[in-house]
Amino acid sequence: MTNLISLQELTHIYNSYSEQQDWKLEPASLYEPFDYIMGQKGKKIRPLSLLLVYSLFNENYQKALPAAYAIDMFHNFTLIHDDLMDQSSVRRGQPTVPLRFGENVAILSGDAMLLESLKLIMTSSGYNQEVISFFIKTAIEVCQGQSLDMGFEKKESISLKEYLEMIRLKTSVLLGACFKIATQLAQQNLDLQDKMYELGCNLGIAFQIQDDYLDLYSSEMSFGKKKGGDLIQRKKSILLLLAIESFSKDEKKQFIKEYHQKRSDEQQVMKYLKIFEALNIKQRTTELFTYYQNSINCTLNEIELPSDKKLLLSEFVSLILQRNH
Ligand code: IPE
Ligand code: IPE
Ligand code: MG
Ligand code: MG
Ligand code: MG
Repeated sequence: MTNLISLQELTHIYNSYSEQQDWKLEPASLYEPFDYIMGQKGKKIRPLSLLLVYSLFNENYQKALPAAYAIDMFHNFTLIHDDLMDQSSVRRGQPTVPLRFGENVAILSGDAMLLESLKLIMTSSGYNQEVISFFIKTAIEVCQGQSLDMGFEKKESISLKEYLEMIRLKTSVLLGACFKIATQLAQQNLDLQDKMYELGCNLGIAFQIQDDYLDLYSSEMSFGKKKGGDLIQRKKSILLLLAIESFSKDEKKQFIKEYHQKRSDEQQVMKYLKIFEALNIKQRTTELFTYYQNSINCTLNEIELPSDKKLLLSEFVSLILQRNH
């Protein structure tokens, strides 16, 4: 029987490690946003995924802390630039970096965080050329996904296939990378690396569908972002895609014309909520989410691990899928 560490303990250890990192550097205008965003209460699912998967193969999980922190820093960099692009004003219940520090600071501090994350991953124990190449490949894919996401704001018609590819790139490959890098650093074989990557990527797809859902069907208080933010920014979220799918050709044309005209206000969001209710969008999104939940369980079944480790991994995955913020 191996000595497995619980998720609770890992969370505690990661948070203490993260709190010890000091970004009180000069110039303050560059580094202030580091402390601001890294110190916020995010869910930390990416660093925790990396640590948890690593801990399945190496009891000395502390060795993976720098890599976990590097991934967390990369994720937070993407959020800073994402909030700038999405013109978002609140994240984690607080003003976004562009709003709090200004757009130029958001660009530059974001760039510095990206580069720090690369520097940090290169200090990880077990690090090699493959890890860094894979990390860079993933980072480029995230940019591709974000580019598609912005492009879709102006495109009339987006298929489900195009949407799924966009969210695979902007969100799911990073979660996949956490699972894979953990196995790379723990010197596991390529088959296992691939299976873990598949698991993380599938989880990432479900995670983004959930994010689109919560964007409208969660309160600002619990979600920490503006309710209906995707509709306000004219995003092609899964909710919108499913709604459009139900319209007749003429209805669709009229709807899209209005939708693209200007950023919606809160009153408009209420109007969309009513339309979505009539079209049963909540239920249909949940069905799609359940489909990915099942495919995650299939991938989990294919991963060969001792039963106690399998249980820890599947409990972690279930916890992510049950989130409400
Ligand atoms: C937000 O990620 C960006 C998406 C990919 C949806 P999280 O929902 O993990 O954000 P935090 O870090 O917990 O705030
Ligand atoms: C986030 O997508 C993807 C990345 C940050 C790469 P969203 O734009 O939906 O994320 P939130 O909802 O602002 O967190
Ligand atoms: Mg975005
Ligand atoms: Mg956003
Ligand atoms: Mg979102």
